[in-house]
Amino acid sequence: MTERTLILVKPDGVRRGLIGSVLHRIERKGYVIVEIQKCRATEEILAQHYQEHVEKSFYPELVEFMTSGDVVAIVAEGVNIIHGFRVMMGTTQPTDALPGTIRGDYGRDWDNNEIQNIVHGSDSPESAEREIKIWFPNLK
Ligand code: PPS
Repeated sequence: MTERTLILVKPDGVRRGLIGSVLHRIERKGYVIVEIQKCRATEEILAQHYQEHVEKSFYPELVEFMTSGDVVAIVAEGVNIIHGFRVMMGTTQPTDALPGTIRGDYGRDWDNNEIQNIVHGSDSPESAEREIKIWFPNLK
């Protein structure tokens, strides 16, 4: 089924010059970039985007990291892209992520309790629809 997902290149990915590498992987896989914008995430946007994590103990580190620089928000489209891009990302912890995945190839652990894992991808059709509306409210 053709579907859309919301992808973020997080501040570590932007800082390290990995925007092009992420876009290249998306396109090389045959997915289509529908919309893209570089911006600075606000605490308000992050509270919506990460609504299920706001009460978690790691939320302060998550916000600190996600507001530490620009992000690139992307809407991409393709058959089964929501699951497909999650596979391409690899697991949350960069050290556990398999080589060949984005996080496995580029991510690394840091000793300040932040998980700097390069990218975000929606985890379900419901999340994708919700997240796309948050980052691209005018997209049809
Ligand atoms: S949970 O509780 O298992 O559902 O949470 P998890 O899936 O592991 O993480 C949810 C998102 O929070 C990010 N995260 C962090 N970012 C920075 N620093 C710390 N310490 C941290 N802990 C969790 C994690 O990367 C997930 O973000 P996304 O963008 O969804 O991958």
